[in-house]
Amino acid sequence: MTSTEQGRRKYDALADRYEEIYFYVADMGRELVSFAEPPPGACLLDVGAGRGAVARAALAHGCTVSAVDASAGMVSRLADDHPEITASQQDAGALNFPDGSFDVVTAGFVVQVLTEPAQALAEFHRVLAPGGTIALSLERQTVGRMGWLHDLNREYFGGGDGEAMTAPQLDELLVSAGFTEPTNVEIDIPKPLADAAALWDWLALQGVPEALDTLPTERAVAFREHFFRAAEEMHHDGGIELPFGATLHRATRP
Ligand SMILES: C[S@@+](CC[C@H](N)C(=O)[O-])C[C@H]1O[C@@H](n2cnc3c(N)ncnc32)[C@H](O)[C@@H]1O
Repeated sequence: MTSTEQGRRKYDALADRYEEIYFYVADMGRELVSFAEPPPGACLLDVGAGRGAVARAALAHGCTVSAVDASAGMVSRLADDHPEITASQQDAGALNFPDGSFDVVTAGFVVQVLTEPAQALAEFHRVLAPGGTIALSLERQTVGRMGWLHDLNREYFGGGDGEAMTAPQLDELLVSAGFTEPTNVEIDIPKPLADAAALWDWLALQGVPEALDTLPTERAVAFREHFFRAAEEMHHDGGIELPFGATLHRATRP
């Protein structure tokens, strides 16, 4: 397995509202498919498909699409929403497809959440036909002016210190897995927000109020005060913008 039980439960719980909370993945899915440049009528496998941001874009591009995800909740929603996609629950590190089954393998924002990304890349290599293309997206940690929010989360909830995978590391992993000609591009998707209340609403979608309920009352009050003070300052100082960014990676299976 290249994910933990806890990881699967997290995505099961997110499945219903995933693309509402992570509103940028639909745009990113389209970007990733056009970066992959699938040939007309290509057989494409989307791994860690979630609610189908990449798989949908591949269908619109004229591909025949199979999609897998480790979360039963995601697979069930994907199958209901898109019966034209062949969806199944599978682990990225143990794919149930014969060697050389696909012309293109995609995985949007997946490799960085896996416990064993190298094992998954070896599987993507195995199921790709010679000459096939792999296309992956990786979230960039572009916190910029939102650094205070990351610090606030770390101060009150801990964690967040793990090293995120970088674009050069992903290219190295691709080469180690036997892929050639790795190339990547950076994409930015800044999201402007009206005011501090809008930023709070976005955090609320991610369960921050419920998380605050687990803190002692005075800590929860202090978090809110600190949050609104910093967010209001940003608002008066040139606006609030969520600074999302990604790198798109492509390589060839020789
Ligand atoms: C950040 S989401 C991205 C979803 C989708 N690709 C998108 O761009 O919106 C990561 C997805 O990978 C799935 N996932 C995590 N570990 C996995 C594994 N070992 N095998 C297959 N899917 C996995 C999760 O269930 C989740 O749907």
